[in-house]
Amino acid sequence: LRVDESKLTTEYFEQLSRESAELCCAIVPSSEERVRQEVAFRSVLEVARRAFPDASLHHFGSTALGFSLANAGDDFLGKGHTLLEIFVRILTHLKMKDMDLSISLGSNAYDAYTPAQLVEKLGIVMKNAGMRDVKMLTRARVPIVKIRDAITGIRCDIGFQSKLVLYNTRLLKAYSRIDPRFRELVFIVKYWSKQRNINEPYFGTLSSYCFVLMVIHFLQIRGVLPCLQQIAHDGQNVPNIAIDEANVYFCEDVDTLVSSGKWTCTNAETVGELVVAFFKYFSAEFPYVHGVASVRTGSVLSKEDKGWTKDRQQEMNRSVEDPFETTNNVGRPVDKETLFEVRGEFIRASKILCSAGGVGTGAAYEAIL
Ligand code: CTP
Ligand code: MG
Repeated sequence: LRVDESKLTTEYFEQLSRESAELCCAIVPSSEERVRQEVAFRSVLEVARRAFPDASLHHFGSTALGFSLANAGDDFLGKGHTLLEIFVRILTHLKMKDMDLSISLGSNAYDAYTPAQLVEKLGIVMKNAGMRDVKMLTRARVPIVKIRDAITGIRCDIGFQSKLVLYNTRLLKAYSRIDPRFRELVFIVKYWSKQRNINEPYFGTLSSYCFVLMVIHFLQIRGVLPCLQQIAHDGQNVPNIAIDEANVYFCEDVDTLVSSGKWTCTNAETVGELVVAFFKYFSAEFPYVHGVASVRTGSVLSKEDKGWTKDRQQEMNRSVEDPFETTNNVGRPVDKETLFEVRGEFIRASKILCSAGGVGTGAAYEAIL
């Protein structure tokens, strides 16, 4: 990959930053949508308790984080939107957002039923309660029930995941409170990945979660974000809080972290500069063959040290470590074929961003989508 970055001008980066802000404005969920999510949450809980009286329900993933791309509301062609905003809303309308929900039960239930049986039992009560489009994915790696809430029309993926999903959602949330550039970059990368069809783990490409971890890793390397799992709150040793054999400790009090000066950001780049650098990093700089992006340590680890060297051809497959479940490689769905597709998209975006800057054309993001 050869791009001449010296041609990129300050005006170009400013334009990219402006477009990023515009894109984010257009795709963040409205408050009306959050109310609908709340209504759906309550009706799912109410129905789930018919099958499992002691069930509690947890909301995780992008809709819990405020990282979801909006479902278009009724007003999406209303006044005050730019053409770009309308374009974005129409496209995201076609990719309705699912709410990720997880049920936890008293421990007896887990002895009495397999995960597939739990999902079946839940699916039946959901159907009987009049939920729409009920599908039971009993054979998925993590079995889930998919439903569409009858009142709000919101789609939900409901599973019996381990508690770790709640902790990793909290970790992502803490990072999003440290620096606003993180959230903007996540929106752009997620939106780009969905438009380019490389955000479909069921079809061998990467999950949004994987892309978000890649963004955090990049921002850590770049000095925009700290490594929250390495910062002890007392300035001494990092504690061990064990849940499901993982250490789920991280410094969650980010307000104090910043106000006390324990973390000072030294990077003053604009979002536009970071977007260009992100795509360059993952198309030309990241060492896919030997390296693993590790948010947990804020560094690139060696595959050799992690024992992840079995198949050299599946480079990306073993390139992103889960921050808590350290044996879990989050790029797992990627295989030999989809690896070329995903890396090809990174290279394409990087080239376009750099050449658009060179010739000074407008609407850079529309070009990479
Ligand atoms: N998750 C996980 N391990 C994975 C994939 C997902 O623990 N390999 C959990 C994470 O808690 C993540 C949540 O599932 O936040 C949702 O993942 P995903 O759907 O990929 O991300 P979202 O941010 O919800 O993106 P989208 O808007 O595309 O649904
Ligand atoms: Mg999700």
